[in-house]
Amino acid sequence: MAKPKIAIIIGSTREGRFGDKPANWIYELGKARSDLDFEIVDLRDFPMPFFDEPASPAWVPSKAEAAQKWQKTLDRFDGYIITVAEYNRGPTAVLKNAFDYAYPSWNKKPVAFVGYGSTGGARAVEQLRLQAIELQMVPIRTGVHIFWQIMQEANGGKKLSEFDFLNQTGKDMLDQFAWYAKALKVARDADAQATKAA
Ligand SMILES: Cc1cc2nc3c(=O)[nH]c(=O)nc-3n(C[C@H](O)[C@H](O)[C@H](O)COP(=O)(O)O)c2cc1C
Repeated sequence: MAKPKIAIIIGSTREGRFGDKPANWIYELGKARSDLDFEIVDLRDFPMPFFDEPASPAWVPSKAEAAQKWQKTLDRFDGYIITVAEYNRGPTAVLKNAFDYAYPSWNKKPVAFVGYGSTGGARAVEQLRLQAIELQMVPIRTGVHIFWQIMQEANGGKKLSEFDFLNQTGKDMLDQFAWYAKALKVARDADAQATKAA
């Protein structure tokens, strides 16, 4: 089996965002593994209007070029790790919009979250787990939660990799994530073979 390819999606786009820090940190942690390949996918590179298609991409192929570009990018990956900023106790609108702009591309793949904020982004992450189920993704139990104090220290110049407990939680999350990424890839590949043979 080819190594599963994993996208680390940066879920916020505003100028001066914190989101780059958790994305780069989990990318470096992932790079230390030999069983998965990682690539950072920045939502800034996928500007999409607020959802404006005749129907959900679950039923009707999207018309907008931006939507098609986003879906083709998601199709290249076998799972997703998403950085989650908490805006008013929920996920960013830009991330929710990106969720809405694809459907089959997300299906039957694992997703894990690296949240940050006053409660480590926990409230936004929990909402995203519910949405992930509707998109037929498999949300991983363990998430990383970067609390306010840590964000302040990171903004002051301390690297996230200097926090041992974050590295440990990140490793636990990646271990769980890897199991599902591999198992689901085997299952999707078997489905694709069966479809081809039929
Ligand atoms: C519109 C808005 C709403 C926010 N609401 C919350 C919130 O409900 N809970 C929280 O912990 N932080 C909240 N924050 C603070 C963010 O956690 C913090 O600004 C963080 O850096 C945002 O992520 P970003 O820098 O990647 O955009 C909010 C920030 C913004 C801009």
